[in-house]
Amino acid sequence: MINMEHVTKRFAADGPASVDDLSLVVPEGTTTALIGPSGCGKTTTMRMINRLIDPTEGKIIVNGEDVTKVDPVQLRRHIGYVIQQVGLFPHMTIAQNIAAVPKLLGWTEAKITSRTEELLDLVGLDPCEMLKRYPRQLSGGQRQRIGVARALAADPPVLLMDEPFGAIDPIARTRLQDEFRQILRRVRKTVVLVTHDLDEAIRLGDRIAIMKSGKIVQYDTPDSVLSHPADAFVENFVGIDRAIKRLSLFTVHDAMNTTTPSTGVSTVAPTSSLRDALALMVAANSDVLAVVDESGAVKGQLTRDAIFAV
Ligand SMILES: Nc1ncnc2c1ncn2[C@@H]1O[C@H](COP(=O)(O)OP(=O)(O)O)[C@@H](O)[C@H]1O
Ligand SMILES: [Mg+2]
Repeated sequence: MINMEHVTKRFAADGPASVDDLSLVVPEGTTTALIGPSGCGKTTTMRMINRLIDPTEGKIIVNGEDVTKVDPVQLRRHIGYVIQQVGLFPHMTIAQNIAAVPKLLGWTEAKITSRTEELLDLVGLDPCEMLKRYPRQLSGGQRQRIGVARALAADPPVLLMDEPFGAIDPIARTRLQDEFRQILRRVRKTVVLVTHDLDEAIRLGDRIAIMKSGKIVQYDTPDSVLSHPADAFVENFVGIDRAIKRLSLFTVHDAMNTTTPSTGVSTVAPTSSLRDALALMVAANSDVLAVVDESGAVKGQLTRDAIFAV
């Protein structure tokens, strides 16, 4: 668990507070997305958690320990860190990059080798192909996956990610986000994810903290942020299409009717999001879709009214 209590950061003694009396609890095994306009203090907040920056005031507890009371180098070995620029060591192979922290922790060669292969598998890369390559021989998306693998190497309970998918093209980004979500289901971590992309925050966050000028203005589930923005700033930040974005939190399965025979002509999969289902309705100019599973069996129907009622 991460617990920040009344944390303030001023870079100059008489300067403005970049982070201003911020309190935040990230429960164990959950993901919090920190989101807000550029310069609002997201990166500063995150870098105080692994002590790349020391707070001016306040307290930060990670896994029951006050981070200011432990050796920062030791601390960072137990907190995975992923950044947009990835920060792979260019002169080291992929294998050596992933092994960096386990080596510092004194793992045996055999344990490191098997862990490296396991991690490449986890992030969807072929170990045979990757291990001997250098970072410059990889695509942006592959490097980002290696960044995630390296952060997970020593199985840290806490993962900090600062715009991890920001530098990747939109299609690859969505895929990586989905894969990352799958990974988190398998290896439960306490995650703080900094992003300026609301869709990413909605997709990956159990909770979203919306920041403005060093403060958190709303800390809630994606559903609550989108359905009940706390003030005009949040409402404006989440945008006019917040009701449509909110539909991406639900699947057809959540709203379909399985008891009436379907009158729909166009079809949708039960696993599709309601946002996609609504888009299909608009495209088909129809207010009902037949819900059809992979085997082609009709499972029920989805009406526009059922979508509007979620
Ligand atoms: N090392 C630093 N020295 C002085 N000011 C800084 C430093 N790092 C960040 N700031 C200032 O703190 C504020 C918050 O920055 P940052 O946390 O990087 O914002 P975000 O990640 O939300 O874009 C900004 O006004 C920025 O200029
Ligand atoms: Mg930043």
